[in-house]
Amino acid sequence: MAVLVTGGAGYIGSAFVEQLLAAGEEVVVLDDLSRGHRAAVHPKAAFYEGRTGDRALVGRIARDHRLDACAHFAAFAYVGESVTEPARYFDNNFTQAQILFETLLAAGVKRVVFSSTCATYGVPSRVPIPESHPQWPINPYGWSKLFVERLLESFDRAYGLRFVSLRYFNAAGATARCGEAHSPETHLIPLVLAVAAGRRPKVSVFGDDYDTPDGTAIRDYIHIEDLGEAHLLALAHLRRGGASRFLNLGNGTGYSVLEVIETARRVTGRDVPFEKVGRREGDPPRLVGDATLAREVLGWVPKRPSLEAIVRSAWDWMQAHPDGYGVRS
Ligand SMILES: NC(=O)c1ccc[n+]([C@@H]2O[C@H](COP(=O)([O-])OP(=O)(O)OC[C@H]3O[C@@H](n4cnc5c(N)ncnc54)[C@H](O)[C@@H]3O)[C@@H](O)[C@H]2O)c1
Repeated sequence: MAVLVTGGAGYIGSAFVEQLLAAGEEVVVLDDLSRGHRAAVHPKAAFYEGRTGDRALVGRIARDHRLDACAHFAAFAYVGESVTEPARYFDNNFTQAQILFETLLAAGVKRVVFSSTCATYGVPSRVPIPESHPQWPINPYGWSKLFVERLLESFDRAYGLRFVSLRYFNAAGATARCGEAHSPETHLIPLVLAVAAGRRPKVSVFGDDYDTPDGTAIRDYIHIEDLGEAHLLALAHLRRGGASRFLNLGNGTGYSVLEVIETARRVTGRDVPFEKVGRREGDPPRLVGDATLAREVLGWVPKRPSLEAIVRSAWDWMQAHPDGYGVRS
């Protein structure tokens, strides 16, 4: 029996593949390489280049590898791009996911772990955000993920598809092998470290007049290995017949943009020039997750919660892979 990892050539998926293999699982990666890197795919995983909505390909993979579950990471994840190109986001993130789940069900695969996001909450009315918080996204990316959550719920009721939908806060950090190499890069930690490495002149700080202690926006950073461990536990939960769940994955601690910059200075021993610019539309002041439910349901406890450890792992990876996977961000 094998686990299908869609998006296994991407940042979080490639690290999860390592963890699955270390746990003795057989792994099949499906990725169209639109945003990922062939070199990120672990050599011990079977690899298929193709789209999640390719019924013939997914059907063949399910038959050839006797799949028992799917971890569905594949998606487009740029908020700004989703605003200018919503059709691509609804097609790739929602329609392709629907076809994937239909094809898996037709092949008898009824367990899915889904990469959802805190972007499904929109602007929170309280933090830390619990799963019961109203979901009203403020961009097409968030809506495309929320629609998949609703689809999974309907497929559970009608067809017995069991799922764990994991709502990540800000994924960050690296393993020795897998790190963040998006092009363009929009995430704060790799941007700050690119400045420390001298590959970018300065970091833009969007907004310094929020109602937060230093005026800059606060986010909840979670190490990708901690995310991966939650996926392993979610898989175990589904295999023991556990019910479908929606669970937040975050540390419950927020760090401001200036705290991230200061931590990067300490970790790298380099200067990190920054420039304060205006707020970005739709950036909430604080996004911090309450992950109590993931602890209760899965027994998940993040082992690498310190921002310093997260930034250090990302810096170590960047030093060892100065060109990422061969593409400069
Ligand atoms: N990075 C974060 O902080 C974060 C936060 C919340 C949720 N997420 C979600 O986690 C998942 C992984 O994020 P990431 O940062 O690793 O992204 P990523 O872009 O690095 O990885 C996504 C991978 O999916 C592939 N892909 C995209 N559409 C595909 C399709 N239709 N068929 C096959 N392959 C396809 C891409 O080529 C890429 O390798 C995404 O679903 C994202 O929405 C990420």
